[in-house]
Amino acid sequence: MKKDQASKKPRVFSGVQPSHDLHIGNYIGALRNWALKQHLSDNIFCVVDLHALTLPEDIKPEVLRENSRKVAALYYACGLDIETNIVFIQSHLHEHAEAAWILNCTTPLGWLQRMTQFKAKSEQAASIGMGLLDYPVLQAADILLYDTDEVPVGEDQRQHIELTRDIAIRFNNLFGETFVLPKAVIPEEGAKVMGLDEPEAKMSKSVARNRPGHAINLLDNEKTIKKAIMSAVTDSEKETRFEHASAGVINLLTMYRALTHESRDAIEARFEGKGYGFLKKELLGAVLETLKPIQSKFNEIMADRDGLERLLAKNADAAREIAAKTLSKMKEATGLG
Ligand code: TYM
Repeated sequence: MKKDQASKKPRVFSGVQPSHDLHIGNYIGALRNWALKQHLSDNIFCVVDLHALTLPEDIKPEVLRENSRKVAALYYACGLDIETNIVFIQSHLHEHAEAAWILNCTTPLGWLQRMTQFKAKSEQAASIGMGLLDYPVLQAADILLYDTDEVPVGEDQRQHIELTRDIAIRFNNLFGETFVLPKAVIPEEGAKVMGLDEPEAKMSKSVARNRPGHAINLLDNEKTIKKAIMSAVTDSEKETRFEHASAGVINLLTMYRALTHESRDAIEARFEGKGYGFLKKELLGAVLETLKPIQSKFNEIMADRDGLERLLAKNADAAREIAAKTLSKMKEATGLG
């Protein structure tokens, strides 16, 4: 389906779960890229609190409510312009849950059972709810409600965006052209930042909660960040070439490259033969330089709570205007309403 012809810019939509603290992987894999390219597109960024309920034992109600505000503030603090981006909280709109229900009815169960994130999370949890299996359908609803062209995300979301396309194609085939088909936009560098203490596994919010030294959180203080970087797993060599280094060293080099935008060649030349202590010190400098302005902007936004609430309410209205139109097309097409 063609998007509204009046808008020439592609529509971008993405989101983060407000579960636990955001880390440098979320920044490098997603948030930073949203800000870097914001002027090229028409943008909607959502704090997906309904998704954060899928592992409810993990997060207390008052913490979830507060985290949602913090994540919205971080979106802006990481560089999104307040005037030109719609930033809103998912549960402020009923349209997402309603659209997800309709899509549930056209999505084969087998498609959801195949999702690698579902398999991994369900293996770790003592007991799981239906929401965890249904998670990618709600994600598809988020994306499809806004006629989204591009979804900027980290590597771990690739499968969910492919599923979203499949869900859209199936719905269009069954009920007529309704949805724009979105595509994932995944950065070349830093699409999968690994754990500092376990460079074979992805840096993860839920792991970081129980394991100090696993991640660099965006709101961590200098001392904590220094400790995490200095104790990051490396090896007993001195190899700092991207192609030959061990997983831990590649992770440090990749983070450094993503934050400084220096070329691979320049980075390899700078660190050759210098030892990992030097690489870690330089990375620490780059991380602190990146996070300092983010933290001060975050504190400024959070200090004006009423202002933030007003902004989120205004943005929820703007998002609703778009989402309601798509939902009504979905209802019309399926014979509801
Ligand atoms: P979430 O909250 O797990 O992650 C938010 C974003 O950060 C990226 N990311 C990473 N990138 C690089 N290295 C890492 N270690 C790393 N960890 C996370 C993720 O790829 C993501 O872009 N299902 C989504 C939330 C969601 C969504 C949506 C996203 C719900 N609806 C609609 C896009 C569009 C999620 O759990 O992200």
